[in-house]
Amino acid sequence: MNLTLKVWRQQSADAAGSFVSYQAKDVTPDMSFLEMLDSLNEDLISQKEPPIAFDHDCREGICGSCGFLINGVAHGGQRGTTVCQLAMRFFKDGDTLTLEPWRARAFPVIRDLVVNRSAFDRIIQAGGFISAPTGSAPDANSILIRKEDSDTAMDAAACIGCGACVAACPNASAMLFTSAKITHLNSLPQGQPQRDQRTLSMVVAMRNELFGSCTNHGECEAVCPKRIPMEFIGKMNRDLIRSVWRRHREPLVIPSVAQLPSADDSNE
Ligand code: FES
Repeated sequence: MNLTLKVWRQQSADAAGSFVSYQAKDVTPDMSFLEMLDSLNEDLISQKEPPIAFDHDCREGICGSCGFLINGVAHGGQRGTTVCQLAMRFFKDGDTLTLEPWRARAFPVIRDLVVNRSAFDRIIQAGGFISAPTGSAPDANSILIRKEDSDTAMDAAACIGCGACVAACPNASAMLFTSAKITHLNSLPQGQPQRDQRTLSMVVAMRNELFGSCTNHGECEAVCPKRIPMEFIGKMNRDLIRSVWRRHREPLVIPSVAQLPSADDSNE
């Protein structure tokens, strides 16, 4: 099949960008979307034109490197699918597809379809870790974990940090990403000692990176290739309230009898 691609071309972060039309010819249904772009790039290189820049690494939906908007939808709109796993069979001969990078203030464009997602790294750096004693690995069953907790932690750990949630959200909120990272560690016994500090630090880091706030649109969950549920945002908010409350509450001091006001005091 043959497709028309309108691709966002931008030389550098400071340069102005614009859409440029290309013809993708002889696309087979079994090609992945990125293979189709590889093929187009080979044509561009043979014509001495600069190839279209796009991020990728594993091409198996694992690493989270890939991602851009196809016709305005992050990763192209196939539920639970990264753009590297998106097959061309989902498109029709003659289709016109518009490709553009994630649009968010916290994700500046580096070139074409590549954006700078280091803001996510700084959120992880703020608290996405546990402290553990050095030495040999502990026995597998030395820390017992409830099945529900391990399932929740595994579901949250599925987040690959691709940034689709931010790109899809009208507020460019990173709360789905941050809540997945917080829920992953806060659900496990190993994550309890730093639970409050982790939650506070990662939420503050998220706000510092100029991401917006969640207003329950649900676009993030709809486009997430790992189907991270919005329920994790609720968990993060609960942990945040709890950590703020614990941080600011005064220690409870029970006065001694001598410190209690006497009857004489109350008569004055
Ligand atoms: S290239 Fe790794 S998830 Fe797409």
